[in-house]
Amino acid sequence: MDWSTRLAARTRTQSDLLGGILALANARGVVNFSGGFPDLSVFPTDIVADMARELLDTDAAIALQYAPSEGIESTRDAVADLLLTEEGRRPADDELMITSGGIDAVTLIAKSMLDPGDTVLVEEPSYLGAVAGFASFDARTRSIPMDHEGLDVEALATVLRTTDVKLLYTIPDYQNPSGRTLSAERRTALVDLCRTHGVLIVEDVAYRQLGFTDDKHQSLWSLAPDVVVQIGTFSKTFFPGVRLGWAAGPAPLITQLVVAKQNSDQCAGALGQRLMEEFLRAKHFDTHLPKARALYRSRAGVLTTALTEHFTDLGTWTTPTGGFFTWLHLPGINTTALAAQAREIAVAFVPGAGFFADRPDHEHLRLSYSRVAESDIDDGIARLASTVRRT
Ligand SMILES: Cc1ncc(COP(=O)(O)O)c(C=O)c1O
Repeated sequence: MDWSTRLAARTRTQSDLLGGILALANARGVVNFSGGFPDLSVFPTDIVADMARELLDTDAAIALQYAPSEGIESTRDAVADLLLTEEGRRPADDELMITSGGIDAVTLIAKSMLDPGDTVLVEEPSYLGAVAGFASFDARTRSIPMDHEGLDVEALATVLRTTDVKLLYTIPDYQNPSGRTLSAERRTALVDLCRTHGVLIVEDVAYRQLGFTDDKHQSLWSLAPDVVVQIGTFSKTFFPGVRLGWAAGPAPLITQLVVAKQNSDQCAGALGQRLMEEFLRAKHFDTHLPKARALYRSRAGVLTTALTEHFTDLGTWTTPTGGFFTWLHLPGINTTALAAQAREIAVAFVPGAGFFADRPDHEHLRLSYSRVAESDIDDGIARLASTVRRT
């Protein structure tokens, strides 16, 4: 039986690009600029081991049991406190839920809001996991250009004048894949514009806590909780093995996302929720995050130096102020073909085409510096540059 003929039509447009990235998660002998993986050295292994032992001794009835779909009450309370500290606004009880990570939140929003053919706007370029998540509910995804200040709000205004749009998905801080950050002025303009047109903003703050300095713009959600649903993840700051995040937004929407969760995985894992909660309550982030931010800042610096040394005559790149990524533009080079050649010299990166929702652009690539040892960065970039020159 050829089961491929029985698959849903929507699978025909789905790529396995993310599968390829995840497969490299534990690759050895490769200078791996590929996935947005946190570095192993900042996993809080000992703390988690102690907390897990303690939880199993004292709270197994909750930690090992199913949990409510909106999240364990005490965990939601701890995450609400975190948002108050970080963003100056505490979501009400019915404005916050715990999700099984950021991509789960994307799926729940898509499932709850999108009918086939609805339009979702995304940045150009944008996080390919989210673009694929919206597309898998048969939405039409359309891109809005970006520049060094982030999403081009004027271009968005032009599109909204003629198009009925349900959602806008944006990553305002240290964007994936470009590393860019939306300016303060544009944040206010963006929420005003979307409020006028009745467009829900999905604000993905996956990297917001990983800025290289203490400077931070206001989150879109704290500026306009009436038109923004914020989705966050603990994958980048705690560890991705926990598969945990949150959604904070207007109460009627959160209520619907909770219903949607009941017919997907029902609830985020209770053990992870309780671990996260204890980690927050013990204020471990106060020491953990500065270490992580210093590590990524230093790696970003080494990468920029290496790019300046080896790529100045070959292309241009962004200089991130936080997060995991640099976005490289190589005019005249097909980066999809380059990725195959780079495998032969044991260097991995993600070719840019998958980050474009409308028309693939093959001249960009994403470099993630988050888990490449500093001592390997220059060597990997030098090898990549030699391959580009040969091409
Ligand atoms: C912008 C962005 N959002 C969400 C995610 C996925 O997060 P999670 O691991 O929590 O599903 C990622 C992971 O790469 C990301 O870069």
